[in-house]
Amino acid sequence: MTRPSPPPETPILPADDPDALDQAVGILKAGGCVAVPTETVYGLACDATNPQAVAGVYEAKGRPSFNPLICHVDTLERAGSLIQLEDLGLALAAQFWPGPLTLVGPKRTPSPVSDLAAAGLDSLAVRVPRSDTLRTLVQRLDAPLAAPSANASGAISPTKAEHVKDSLNGRIHLILDGGACPVGVESTIVSVLDQTHPEILRPGGVARDALEAVSGVMRRPAQTNHSAPTAPGQLTSHYAPSASVRLNATQPEAGEAYLGFGAQPKREDIVFFDLSPSGDLVEAAANLFTGLRWLDRVSDRIAVAPIPETGLGEAINDRLRRAAAER
Ligand code: TXA
Ligand code: MG
Repeated sequence: MTRPSPPPETPILPADDPDALDQAVGILKAGGCVAVPTETVYGLACDATNPQAVAGVYEAKGRPSFNPLICHVDTLERAGSLIQLEDLGLALAAQFWPGPLTLVGPKRTPSPVSDLAAAGLDSLAVRVPRSDTLRTLVQRLDAPLAAPSANASGAISPTKAEHVKDSLNGRIHLILDGGACPVGVESTIVSVLDQTHPEILRPGGVARDALEAVSGVMRRPAQTNHSAPTAPGQLTSHYAPSASVRLNATQPEAGEAYLGFGAQPKREDIVFFDLSPSGDLVEAAANLFTGLRWLDRVSDRIAVAPIPETGLGEAINDRLRRAAAER
């Protein structure tokens, strides 16, 4: 089956419009890709069982092909048909699905998921998103949807339909607009490959303390570097704005724009975006990528306020460190 080529101007349609959903189903069945809102960030969804469709997603994003994709499903049952979930995985799923948690488990064989989506690994990343749109599409396709964040590889993740359009216009078939993503950072990825040593591969929308209340202590994300990630995709430089990023800046310097967290900069000539005027980490996570994008547009140097490492702060600081990493 050949993949339909995307239109030069990617349409944006409301996610709750039944005609738009019909169109999305048609595109996905034909092997195309559709940007879909989720509670975390917008995903670029395709039929995970169709290798050509998956190749189209890699192509649209310009993503390195060693980077495996998360398979999104509608139910725990379908998740269990893709990976082996034992006690620990089932307990985490019961507590956090549907929601911003991705579980990496042993892939069942034979697997309906194309090797390209799993990047040839024996493990598979699966999540049941809170997004009705995504779950409805899975149900109507009767297949898992592979969906990386809907941005060009290495760039800032999209939390609004316009962000997707800015990054991928003309490269994808359709954008479904569901408004701003409420969580604002990607899902937490937990490996349950070793049941006795669960590991957080990427901090995200479910905070460590909430997970550990269910599982006991989890290992820290592997500190990996450069082009040979131990957890694939954990490239050091990621989520990169064009501007340089200086972290833990209690005050901005002349010429810097400031990404603040609840405190005004002292200088008046500073372009300033406050992640959360009340110092709330959940609100800060939801505003993170919008703030970075906005400051990136107005300045080539961004200073970032110190963010506490508690709760969603772990995910926020992970993304900020990658945004600041040498490229
Ligand atoms: O919130 C999210 O997770 C969003 C929305 C769209 O669901 N998706 C997302 O996908 O962030 P993506 O492709 O941008 O990031 C997926 C991460 C990558 O770092 C990838 O390497 C990792 O998941 N991953 C996927 N399969 C894996 C596996 N088998 N083992 C370890 N890491 C895996
Ligand atoms: Mg991404």
